[in-house]
Amino acid sequence: MSGPIRVLVAKPGLDGHDRGALVVAQGLRDAGMEVVYTGLRQSAEQIVRAALDEDVDCIGLSSLSGAHMALFPAVLDELRREGGDDILVVGGGVIPPEDAQELRKMGLAAVFTPGSPIRDMAEFIQSNVRRLSRPPATPPLAIDHVGIAVENISDALVFYERQLGCQVESREDIPAQKVRVALLRVGEAHIELLEPLGDDSPVAKFLRARGPGMHHLAYLVDDVAAWLARAKADGLRVLDDEPRPGAGRRLVGFVHPKSASGVLTEYCQAVDDH
Ligand code: CO
Repeated sequence: MSGPIRVLVAKPGLDGHDRGALVVAQGLRDAGMEVVYTGLRQSAEQIVRAALDEDVDCIGLSSLSGAHMALFPAVLDELRREGGDDILVVGGGVIPPEDAQELRKMGLAAVFTPGSPIRDMAEFIQSNVRRLSRPPATPPLAIDHVGIAVENISDALVFYERQLGCQVESREDIPAQKVRVALLRVGEAHIELLEPLGDDSPVAKFLRARGPGMHHLAYLVDDVAAWLARAKADGLRVLDDEPRPGAGRRLVGFVHPKSASGVLTEYCQAVDDH
């Protein structure tokens, strides 16, 4: 996602002073952010609704009434209920250190007391907002295949052909990846058996570290290049900056297991033959 960081400055509760909040709003604008101010006496529901409607990256809560221990957690709870918990929430006001500590445990990212320079707050927001792309318009079309690392395809086929009765649909060597592949059809999906070609093959490395087994999961998508770009923009670790040719006339790109719940994840796309 690009464009300036968007912040909602909100005053929950009943106190009627918003000079501080207005100063903060202006300070954040001066730092290049787009700031929406809710006005006084907002309920947690109103604040969260405004944050989601305005598609903000951060909510800045301000309270001078002393009721922050009730008001701030109410906003955090409501945000979680509404699925907005990727929004960074910071708080400001006359807040004793022990309350600040308690609020951070509840999920408030930081507490700024009167007198903290607005520059500090702006820098904190800049380095802590999580700017995730919107989900893709078209989610994965199918599980395309499951990649399974084996020492030897012929040996593995005893199970897949004899026991499961699957047919080998194609075999191919992909020298660029130092891997030999056999594709077996299972309904609409495939099993992709991967045998290393050489000791320096990534699959050989996998076998040494983990032994034979599930190696990756591949989703069929409409546009691998766009999917890789989104993954990168969201700070995911990708193994491919650009799509590259894979088995079965597919363009493929991989996301590191660290960024995908522990599963090496492949995005793949059928290549047009003409
Ligand atoms: Co694959």
